[in-house]
Amino acid sequence: MARPISAPRGTRDLLPEDAAAWSHVEGIARDLSRRYALDRIETPLFERIELFSRGLGESSDAVEKEMFRVSGAAGSEDERAQWALRPEPTAGIVRAYLEHGMHVRPTPQRLWMIGPMFRYDRPQAGRFRQFVQWDVEVIGDPGPMVDAEIIELGQRFYWEAEVRDVVASVNSIGDATCRPAYRDALVAYFSAHENRLSADSRRRLHVNPLRVLDDRDLDPDLAAGAPRSIDHLCDACAAHFAAVRALLDAEGVRYEIDHRLVRGLDYYTRTTFEFFVAGRRGQQQALGGGGRYDGLAELLGGQPTPGIGFGIGIDRTVLAAAEQGTVPPDQGPLVAVIGADPDTLAQRLEVATALRAAGLRVRADGSARKLGKQLEAAAKFGARYAVIVDPTLPTASVILRDLSASEQRELPLGDVAEAVRQA
Ligand code: HAM
Repeated sequence: MARPISAPRGTRDLLPEDAAAWSHVEGIARDLSRRYALDRIETPLFERIELFSRGLGESSDAVEKEMFRVSGAAGSEDERAQWALRPEPTAGIVRAYLEHGMHVRPTPQRLWMIGPMFRYDRPQAGRFRQFVQWDVEVIGDPGPMVDAEIIELGQRFYWEAEVRDVVASVNSIGDATCRPAYRDALVAYFSAHENRLSADSRRRLHVNPLRVLDDRDLDPDLAAGAPRSIDHLCDACAAHFAAVRALLDAEGVRYEIDHRLVRGLDYYTRTTFEFFVAGRRGQQQALGGGGRYDGLAELLGGQPTPGIGFGIGIDRTVLAAAEQGTVPPDQGPLVAVIGADPDTLAQRLEVATALRAAGLRVRADGSARKLGKQLEAAAKFGARYAVIVDPTLPTASVILRDLSASEQRELPLGDVAEAVRQA
């Protein structure tokens, strides 16, 4: 017998028993996208590697360590990898924005997508090599109202998905005016304590000192004494951040300032944020994150264009909801259409079709099994009702059997949907 084949490491199959929770959470994201007047955008699952190295930064984990490279067919000019599966969608969306000259459309553009992202990371709890994000981007609005609006949207999503106790960690990491001096302050501080840094942080210290702050192995005392970005903001960035906080306060959004929140991608400026279940911090537990990226369009060869957005991990949201005991809403009672007479297949289908058209959730039994066996099968599938097609009944009449009460009655087909709904 051939050896069975398993799914690649770090990937998951979404099985039917988990799909209801998943669909529910995705449905909330879609509906919120509608209510917040966001327009759908889709970009390719793979892009040129250069898009990510320029957009996210050569020294970001996503580019340096986790790129899933894609090459063309063997023997073709694309045999050498020049694309990568997208580790995140923001760079691709901004590329599409520039490529299609979307800046001439009414500003700002408010966009969303849901889809798989790929990072060749070490798989562990809540960390996968293929995972799904709900992504929201608002391009062309310098803020600060939109910053608060986006953070509030994230909080509303978790609320509606019934993930309780979510806190937004918020920070501002400044911009091209004030970041250089902050970088220097960090380099000076951490250089004086280089022997207490991890190997990763020592290597990053001069390339990207902000990332030292979100090293999980950073000594907490060392972290507590580190220079804080909000103490180094230029006047414009400080005013922006004060306005964002005032708006969050006015809206009653639950947030806290986290001086170590620098985010792992290089394109961020000013506002950065991540969502956590309170008390469950640590990079890999972030349920979502995002921020402002006012310099990204320029990095990708476009005109300076402000932008802000978030990526919310659907996998982690579904896991967090399940951990908190959240049960996805019922999909409505299941109805099984059955019949003892093997010559009633056409009627069974016809009845099933009529009930589906009336909005019910229906599966039809096309077998020649005895009625008792069909009833048993219906119960195993979780059917609440059986509709029995019986040629001896007057035309357009059926038997509706309540499987939990073991009661049945004859009624016109046209009345079944109403009877099921009322029960
Ligand atoms: P990110 O923080 O890299 O940001 O990812 C956003 C969210 O995706 C994370 O908070 C987490 O919930 C989920 N996620 C990331 N990696 C994994 C993984 N390996 N397994 C499972 N879930 C994961 C971004 O991707 C930015 N593009 C967000 C953004 C949009 N910033 C501005 N606009």
